[in-house]
Amino acid sequence: MDAKATHPQDLARLAKRVRQLLKDRNAIMLAHNYQPPEIQDVADMCGDSLELSIKASQTNAEVIVFAGVHFMAETASILSPEKTVILPNKNAGCPMADMINPQSLAQRKAQLPGVPVVTYVNSPAAVKALTDVCCTSANVVKVINSLDANEVLMAPDKNLALFAARQTTKKIHTWEGCCPYHDALTPRDILAAKEKYPAAIVMAHPECRPEVIDLADAALSTSGMLAYPDKSDAEIFIVGTEVGILHPLRKRHPNKTFIPASENLYCKDMKRITLQDVINSLENMTGVVKVPEEIRIPALSAVEKMTRYVS
Ligand code: 13P
Ligand code: SF4
Repeated sequence: MDAKATHPQDLARLAKRVRQLLKDRNAIMLAHNYQPPEIQDVADMCGDSLELSIKASQTNAEVIVFAGVHFMAETASILSPEKTVILPNKNAGCPMADMINPQSLAQRKAQLPGVPVVTYVNSPAAVKALTDVCCTSANVVKVINSLDANEVLMAPDKNLALFAARQTTKKIHTWEGCCPYHDALTPRDILAAKEKYPAAIVMAHPECRPEVIDLADAALSTSGMLAYPDKSDAEIFIVGTEVGILHPLRKRHPNKTFIPASENLYCKDMKRITLQDVINSLENMTGVVKVPEEIRIPALSAVEKMTRYVS
């Protein structure tokens, strides 16, 4: 079978096989809001990073198939060590998560003695192990404000740190990391889209640059974006995040129009997993992601705390 099947009949057959294997293995499939449509449609649950982490910590299934990128599967493994966590394509990484490692974080911590570290969940498990608390784009401000400290080091996403810095009185030390796709979105892209659709509402992800967020009507996590049109009379929305979100937006709001802020907002890593990958991994129980105990134990409290700060 072609690993990149696109014909509806092939996709339907593959999806049926995935559902059967999930049942046979007592498995649950979680998919991030950026995953390809056929992956989102077959999953038990889709969501943003925070929702998926919470679900991964609460499920009774024996196996978690994580349709996302590597750090997400690691987070599930940290929270649920007794479960088998599968990432169906081992090449699905996150370039932002690769912009930090335990050695570089340890060096920076040494320069900022006593300053707590807030780490974006888009980071390696070994970095989380050196962290006071993790966060996602949905709860970054709450997490930072929960800390009993006037200064915080926020890594690795500089844009998310700058987003949070504008909403807290604490001093935020930043890290030179970013999502290459969100960081490449420019004010010019937003202004061009607004010129074409003057009545449109602009939604931007907090991974975007501050000057892009300044032009947006709302800065939201992916699930925040999915819910936002429920409360808005607007008919057209310019979407400043990865284009995978367009599928659930259009499904949930069939009478509204969603325009990508840029065609370049396409994350290759979020598109690596195919239905055939899911089938192969469930048939052979391959692609298992297991965080070693010496990393998992120190990372656990930071990740667990993150799951407590929901809106
Ligand atoms: P959220 O779904 O948490 O908004 O995350 C965006 C992201 O970049 C995931 O890789
Ligand atoms: Fe990483 Fe950006 Fe892709 Fe999310 S969209 S997985 S932050 S590279």
